[in-house]
Amino acid sequence: MTDGLQEFDALAADKRIDDGANYQWRVAARPVGNVVPTDFEWAVTDIPEPGAGEVLLKTHYLGLAPVMRFYMQGTGAAGERVLEPGDVIHGRGVAQVVKSRHPDWREGEMVQGQMGWQTYKVSKMTDQEKFWRMPPNDLPAALGSGVLGMTGLSAHAGLFACGDPRPDDIMVLSGAAGGVGSMVSQMAANVVGCEVIGMAGGAEKCAFIKEHGCSNAIDYKSENIPDRLDALCPDGMDLYFDNVGGETLEACLERLRLHSRVVLCGSISEYTRDEPFRLSNYTRLRATETRMQGFFVYNHVDRWDAVMEDLAGWIHDGKLEPVQDIEQGFQNMPRALANLYYGRNVGVQCCSVRGEPEEWN
Ligand SMILES: NC(=O)c1ccc[n+]([C@@H]2O[C@H](COP(=O)([O-])OP(=O)(O)OC[C@H]3O[C@@H](n4cnc5c(N)ncnc54)[C@H](OP(=O)(O)O)[C@@H]3O)[C@@H](O)[C@H]2O)c1
Repeated sequence: MTDGLQEFDALAADKRIDDGANYQWRVAARPVGNVVPTDFEWAVTDIPEPGAGEVLLKTHYLGLAPVMRFYMQGTGAAGERVLEPGDVIHGRGVAQVVKSRHPDWREGEMVQGQMGWQTYKVSKMTDQEKFWRMPPNDLPAALGSGVLGMTGLSAHAGLFACGDPRPDDIMVLSGAAGGVGSMVSQMAANVVGCEVIGMAGGAEKCAFIKEHGCSNAIDYKSENIPDRLDALCPDGMDLYFDNVGGETLEACLERLRLHSRVVLCGSISEYTRDEPFRLSNYTRLRATETRMQGFFVYNHVDRWDAVMEDLAGWIHDGKLEPVQDIEQGFQNMPRALANLYYGRNVGVQCCSVRGEPEEWN
């Protein structure tokens, strides 16, 4: 598995950025299966000048998410414009307004929003780009690329708006060591009072999730999921938060209690399959009167301010430890994306574009 990542090191080896140009990663080819280095094209352009009603933004952090492979494939654009080969890859991040000819945005302000994989961007700050000022409550700027960004909103919306978690619920959570998962586990355990059984790949990640809200861990790479679920929750679960789909979802549907809830957040185990996974036991929902609900984070942005206030408050109270896995250097963005599919990230995967000061992390 690591061989693929070494090829990404070779891709980055001769690339560096400075403040004299705009550096970009573009789609070179549509990924087939996992992303490979030849799917990415490095480009260097002039730094654009903002016109009337525009700002120039300088990128500091970019967040990475599994959906980006779909952007590159031109499928499932998830609310963003469909990309063609040669386009700058979509990505949200943290940036500073370095020039402003826009009445509502001042020079020097830090913002987060749709930057794309590039070191500068001229923007009209449209609704489509979803820009917000940050950071709330003086928290580090890097958090805007994940924990206090779309990952945080996803975790909050999935757990609270869809999962309806209750104290003493037994909750099972897949992808527990990832960006969304590491937040959901802590909020469910520390804010609501659920008992959380998490799944992650490998002993190290299982140790990590037990320090971040999970009372028990299943190492799905070395353990049999159905057997471990039977041992850890013999009477079933009240809530399943699904980040991976596939056979794991099927195993959880077999073990639902009456009136339980299933949150469909993601299905990363299915993203690189040639054939869609066909769920065989959805009728378990009927038998257990379970509510299974999917959600799409962009449909929850109207609650942005309230959610960020919740998250920042829980960080300050010590109920939510923000965990971000920060790749250093814009040249390493392709590897940072591949990390997600190789299961290398712990917490939210993001990238410090310019090697930002320590206190920003
Ligand atoms: N519905 C929405 O609006 C929304 C919003 C954001 C994210 N999502 C979805 O939520 C899920 C989590 O997103 P995230 O940003 O937090 O990503 P992430 O969990 O930080 O990163 C992906 C993680 O998934 C695990 N993984 C990779 N391949 C896997 C496989 N074949 N089987 C099981 N686990 C695998 C890896 O951890 P291990 O080493 O533990 O395997 C990896 O670290 C994704 O499916 C994403 O698409 C949905």
